[in-house]
Amino acid sequence: MKRGTFLKTLGFGTVSTLAGGAILSSCMNHDMETMTPAVAPDVLEGSFSTPLSFPETSLTGTALNAGSQNITTITGKNTQAWGYKNGILGPTFRIQSGSTVSIPFTNGLTEETNIHWHGLLVPAAMDGHPDQMVMPGKTFNYSFKIDQRAGLSWYHPHPHEKTGKQVFMGLAGLFIIESAEEKALNLPAGAYELPLVIQDKRLNTSGGIDYSPTMDEVMIGYMGETIIVNGVHSPFHNVATRTYRLRVLNGSNGRIYNLALSNGNAFTVIGSDGGLLPAPETVTDLLLAPGERVDLLVDFSKSALNSEVYLQSSVFSGVNSQGRQAFKIVKFVVNKAETDSFKLPTSLPEIAPISSSATTKIRTFDIGVGMGTSGGHGGSMAMKGMHTINGKVYSGERIDESVPLNSTEIWEFNNSAGDEPHPMHLHGTFFQVVSRTGGRSRLIASEKGLKDTVLVMPGEKVRIIIKFTNAGKFAFHCHNLEHEDDGMMLNFEVK
Ligand code: C2O
Ligand code: CU
Ligand code: CU
Repeated sequence: MKRGTFLKTLGFGTVSTLAGGAILSSCMNHDMETMTPAVAPDVLEGSFSTPLSFPETSLTGTALNAGSQNITTITGKNTQAWGYKNGILGPTFRIQSGSTVSIPFTNGLTEETNIHWHGLLVPAAMDGHPDQMVMPGKTFNYSFKIDQRAGLSWYHPHPHEKTGKQVFMGLAGLFIIESAEEKALNLPAGAYELPLVIQDKRLNTSGGIDYSPTMDEVMIGYMGETIIVNGVHSPFHNVATRTYRLRVLNGSNGRIYNLALSNGNAFTVIGSDGGLLPAPETVTDLLLAPGERVDLLVDFSKSALNSEVYLQSSVFSGVNSQGRQAFKIVKFVVNKAETDSFKLPTSLPEIAPISSSATTKIRTFDIGVGMGTSGGHGGSMAMKGMHTINGKVYSGERIDESVPLNSTEIWEFNNSAGDEPHPMHLHGTFFQVVSRTGGRSRLIASEKGLKDTVLVMPGEKVRIIIKFTNAGKFAFHCHNLEHEDDGMMLNFEVK
């Protein structure tokens, strides 16, 4: 929403409860005093002297247990984070397309949680919708057949109003799908394939994770000063003079990264959310919003032996709250001479464009204005619902959009009037990005394949095309997790 709008709306909002009034007036005073829009805190770089580590690889059958874990990875101090097995995060699943997985999940927390399989085309009953909670101490067996292209997906909790906290505390993991088709391309594998979960954390004095968003941080998303990769702060990794495959997830709540190499070298984008792109594209930087994944080839033979190259986030424009600072994420030390015979295939597996002539409906979603009306019966408007979709805040029971099974539709996310970036995500399906007008006015490399999350910057209108082949009730929402928890989520039902 617009900050001005927020103040104006507060001016005529009816506040009937005492608590609501107190919260509102303290917010208002705070806003009046500062009157400057909130910005992301500066990133504190470390010394890049801790080795990068990778979550253990799991096949099917691995049990996940959400709970508090002992860690030392963030600052070297003994402290606690949340995770699914050992330490922060969870294991990386590596599953062949066509196989059936069965993952027994236990909720070892003292609050409700569940697992959403972000990017997996699973039946609605297995999707981990906010309706489908696993109570503390209870177990649920997630079981589904993997029937989709190879690609990098992930999993994380999805309890309404608590997703931001639970992911920030450490609950997330990668899910890699492999296929014979992709294997035939001989992309860099084994030690040359690096799964990277990039996140930012705020730490308390004992080195543990602190999740306590202020009102401003609900507005812009909760961002931390400490960048971690696979749970490790300021890591380094030794590489040889050859091509590596970097499979990157932005697992942050609100922070957007503009990925680049510190020596300015170009790198090649070969895939995004839904697997490989139809054609590789070479770039020197690439925006990655919360929830999105990219598949990158980096040729370290272009860097001198014994040089150091950082994967960094470069400055970017288009949003006031972040992008002003460049910072390093992970250091690669090129310390081994090796020749590889890797040749990028000139063509990658085809993706048939979803034909817009089959479109039966265009739905438009206004994501650029704030302050929900549906949650605002008098006093209940306080705090909640500053982020909305078509003026509505999330309601679990309500079906907002009814979509005929097997229909093709265009959905338009309109952020023309907004001043915050919104990575919009649909459950249960992939889509293709059709167009972006306003703002950047073009599609970036990673948007030319199958997507499940698309960044809509302030001033932008983005159209996507979707063929709905997965029946059931699913959510769609902003993947800035503070916005999502604030109610920027609706339900659609395919039937
Ligand atoms: Cu990764 Cu509903 O989200
Ligand atoms: Cu999802
Ligand atoms: Cu948002």
